[in-house]
Amino acid sequence: MELIESIRDRRSVRKMDTKPVPREMIEQILEAGKSAPSAGNLQARDFFVVTSKEMRERFVNAALGQKFIAIAPVAIVVCANLEKIESYGQRGKELYCIQDASASCQNMLLAIHGFGLGGCWIGAFDELAVSKIMGLPEHLRPVAIIPIGYPTESPKERRKRTDDVHWI
Ligand SMILES: Cc1cc2nc3c(=O)[nH]c(=O)nc-3n(C[C@H](O)[C@H](O)[C@H](O)COP(=O)(O)O)c2cc1C
Repeated sequence: MELIESIRDRRSVRKMDTKPVPREMIEQILEAGKSAPSAGNLQARDFFVVTSKEMRERFVNAALGQKFIAIAPVAIVVCANLEKIESYGQRGKELYCIQDASASCQNMLLAIHGFGLGGCWIGAFDELAVSKIMGLPEHLRPVAIIPIGYPTESPKERRKRTDDVHWI
């Protein structure tokens, strides 16, 4: 039940403190990301922990001016790894590695919430710009930027659809 409650209570947090997040917490958040399921257990996603404020400030420009990326003390960039998924051909490249990355993102968001921290999945960014800022090789595709910090807001539950469950 605790798990279900945590899943239900999680919110996207966009207002946070600049106070640093202890490294041990970040490591456990990464561990949660690594525990996610992945196609054929190929784990075709990589994690980049970005503490550099300068780099996060550049992310803000690449992400429609979403300033909290630079305010949060750390951000994890999750990348789909097209090289690690190669054995699954086209479907692997177009779908599985993105799904691997996404499953890790959700696990990390739940771990972040579990630690009483706040985080948000940021997907609205110029992919090429982020790749250039990070100097990523072509086989790494940034899927999400997740800024993490101590929350200074407690967002209410967002309205969820009622037309999306179909029992057959
Ligand atoms: C693929 C994806 C991309 C998203 N991109 C952004 C983003 O760029 N900026 C942002 O503030 N939130 C972003 N979000 C967070 C959503 O806005 C948020 O999950 C949604 O409004 C529901 O709110 P909740 O997470 O509090 O339940 C994204 C979420 C997903 C799954």
